[in-house]
Amino acid sequence: MAPDRATARHQPPLNDAAVTDGYKRAAAEVAAKMVEDGMRVGLGTGSTVAFLLPALAERKLHGLRCVATSPATEHLAQTLGLNVEDLDAVGELDIAIDGADQVDPAGWLVKGGGAALTREKIVAAAARRFVVIVSAEKSVAVLRPPVPLELLRFGVERTLAALGEARLRGSVESPDGNLIADYFGPIGDPVSLAARLSTTPGVVEHGLFTPEMVSCVLIAGADGVERRAGAKQSPG
Ligand code: 5RP
Repeated sequence: MAPDRATARHQPPLNDAAVTDGYKRAAAEVAAKMVEDGMRVGLGTGSTVAFLLPALAERKLHGLRCVATSPATEHLAQTLGLNVEDLDAVGELDIAIDGADQVDPAGWLVKGGGAALTREKIVAAAARRFVVIVSAEKSVAVLRPPVPLELLRFGVERTLAALGEARLRGSVESPDGNLIADYFGPIGDPVSLAARLSTTPGVVEHGLFTPEMVSCVLIAGADGVERRAGAKQSPG
């Protein structure tokens, strides 16, 4: 069937990298405005977060204390003049902002495309509010494989055998020097899969984030930035 030219003009295909980058930037800019003077801020990892950091730096907020989830984020944040400290020096965070590989309607996330899933999960859990920023193609009806995994090096072949349908992502390492793998088996019920992955010896962490971890998802697309509430309630 011939493409509808008018529709194509108004709604560029999402595989157009420039369009997708525009969406990522739009979501990141909305999230940057949620940060206020003096906040303790968790910074995720990835190309969407790479739009967040300059938007945050441009606000010239006072007294920000940032925590980075990867060396790449730490480096870019510092280059832009943001103050980056260790999580344990900062303690509880007011807000953490990060991208995701997939978001489903219930608020489950798949994360770890950038290999920083364990740090990202720790930082998200340390934050009163966890805000997820994505371009529209990350919003899916049903989560699909792969699910990223961080694995201990020791006995990794046994861990992969126990997992089944999982393989190493080449020589990719996490920021903490562990191996990164992807689980390609069926996801089915994410609660069950998350439990199975968590209880497999050798799995340091998996990339399934529960809806209870997420305060808000900002999904940017052709019609603007949709704000979807998550299940995480901010204490106090
Ligand atoms: C890194 C992640 C990223 O947030 C996720 O892969 C999305 O990345 P991008 O913003 O580049 O699309 O989980 O470990």
